[in-house]
Amino acid sequence: MKTKSLTEKYLSDANYLRSSRKFDEEGEFFWRSPSNIALIKYWGKKENQIPNNPSLSFSLSNSYTDTKISYKPNKKDNQINIEFYFENTPNKEFEQRIKNYFEKISDFEPFLKQYKIEIYSSNSFPHSSGIASSASALSSIALGICSIERKLFNTLDSREEFYQKASFLARIGSGSACRSIYDGFNLWGYTEFIADSSDEVAIPINNYVNDIFFDLRDTILIVSSEKKKVSSSQGHSLMEKHIFAEARYNKAIANLKEFISALKTGDLNQSANIIRNEALMLHALMMSSDPPFILIKPETLRIINLIDNFIKDTNLPITYTLDAGPNLHLIYPNQYHPQVLDFIKLLVIDIINYENIKFDFIGGGCQLLAEK
Ligand code: DP6
Repeated sequence: MKTKSLTEKYLSDANYLRSSRKFDEEGEFFWRSPSNIALIKYWGKKENQIPNNPSLSFSLSNSYTDTKISYKPNKKDNQINIEFYFENTPNKEFEQRIKNYFEKISDFEPFLKQYKIEIYSSNSFPHSSGIASSASALSSIALGICSIERKLFNTLDSREEFYQKASFLARIGSGSACRSIYDGFNLWGYTEFIADSSDEVAIPINNYVNDIFFDLRDTILIVSSEKKKVSSSQGHSLMEKHIFAEARYNKAIANLKEFISALKTGDLNQSANIIRNEALMLHALMMSSDPPFILIKPETLRIINLIDNFIKDTNLPITYTLDAGPNLHLIYPNQYHPQVLDFIKLLVIDIINYENIKFDFIGGGCQLLAEK
């Protein structure tokens, strides 16, 4: 017998939520959710934010979003009614995006149309710092929604069920957001060699990972904090007719398989090579899209050359990755931080200012900060 997909399960759960209508309560939840950095990249998706290949990331410590979400009876009957404040200021652009998001997920959470929702969101990093905020923002909102569901209907009572639904709802907001629920390493996307892996939610995979990876650092070199000319969503859609699409998805699967084996055995050099390959391939895909686009800057390439030489000279297991943007993420075990700092101070500081370097590291997952 075919097992139900999570989508089917949550749609049928929604019938229960609809039938136990509750309109007259109010409350508030305050969640913190981390940003994450992908080492195996998600690039290309199908409808409903289903990825074309599995991706793997780790959650960050210092880059996070705090979101307060409050609910009270809605005077507008059966309509999404929200107010959105970013860093305590009303933000109509984000509000519209969240309204569209709530419309999409109201099939799973019908109460979203029965309550007036106010959202106050702020990031631990400046909005235009070049650190992607959609993963932490959308996951913190999804967690708030799950808390409201649990409070109103006494559902999602186990930790597993709660986080699984939060990851599911976060995915619909932004694919990479589903990987921002749990601590440490997360995998999103079905793969035959990891039990319970799923296209619909991310799963924690720390038990597959050797201890030496649990003090990884992510030192972010912010080359530019300009708004991107091409959004991630546009980039994903350019993969639909990409001439290298199939080769990319096959290579991502092969990279994931090798990467998981390196994570298990503690092979730092092998994992470093795969991380770099994924980053450079992501940008090569952008450059070979039709129409093409280039997100890296001359400074990105200059720094890449310096890092490549540094790695060759020192033989240290230091590597780098890039998101959909020009900023470099240096990834390495904490013990090599002094050498990396020396390298930055000696060579990188000529290219970018010290205040454009953010020090982050692997971290805990989401956190409930307060509730009323
Ligand atoms: C390059 O998750 O931002 O960072 O699902 O359209 O919201 P949407 O895209 P998004 O894409 C992230 C792309 C990436 C790689 C990754 O995080 O895996």
